[in-house]
Amino acid sequence: MTNRNLFIAFEGIDGSGKSTQVKLLAEKLESIGHKVYTTFEPTDSEIGSIIRNILIGKKNADNRTIAGLFVADRLNHLLNDENGIVKKMKEGFTVLTDRYYFSSYAYNGTHMDINWVIDANAMSASILRPHLNIFIDVPPEVSMSRINGNRDSIDLYENLENLKKVRAKYLEAFALLYQVEKIYTVDGNKDPEIIHKEIVNKIEDLI
Ligand code: ADP
Ligand code: TYD
Repeated sequence: MTNRNLFIAFEGIDGSGKSTQVKLLAEKLESIGHKVYTTFEPTDSEIGSIIRNILIGKKNADNRTIAGLFVADRLNHLLNDENGIVKKMKEGFTVLTDRYYFSSYAYNGTHMDINWVIDANAMSASILRPHLNIFIDVPPEVSMSRINGNRDSIDLYENLENLKKVRAKYLEAFALLYQVEKIYTVDGNKDPEIIHKEIVNKIEDLI
């Protein structure tokens, strides 16, 4: 692999294995000399903490307000001058993010017009489009059983009916945007190490 730094977004429904794969890929890239910065959305900024309070039911908000908060959180994720993604890319880091704008298209697009959500994220897309969006595809039944086995509390969007709709919206968003976005789908039902190897192969192709 060369040292070209990449921006990779991991996508998938809750419990699909994104954070597991982010960690494995970060370790792999670091072991071969890349500088790697891992991050996630919703972020740990003030905007992200408003979002998390809504997700855990401490605060109430309309779905359109939630979609707008994610837009703002993402712009701050890119642009803040402390640890913003744009700054990290300029410093030569490969950035791996657990969720980016396809999460908005899929989750927020389930509750409102997906085209509004895509348009509202146009600024983020023009600032930084991922070199690759990795979609970890698992049946919602599998992800729900992982979540139920794993958590003390269940977030706003973590129920079977909603996750079925979210998965369908991901597929709709990929179909709408395949000409401008690089999308790679992996079968999230396989063993984590096998999924990891498939992702590494794909990234070797990229650089
Ligand atoms: P996400 O970040 O997408 O919510 P996690 O990586 O936290 O998902 O994984 C959710 C749960 O499923 C964790 O307990 C994790 O250990 C487990 N897990 C992750 N990948 C797999 C896999 N390929 N097969 C089975 N279990 C997995
Ligand atoms: P996350 O903490 O990644 O949850 P998990 O670890 O279970 O995958 O994300 C929290 C929730 O926020 C998740 O249900 C998806 C949702 N979300 C949106 O609705 N819109 C967005 O733009 C993003 C980034 C996340």
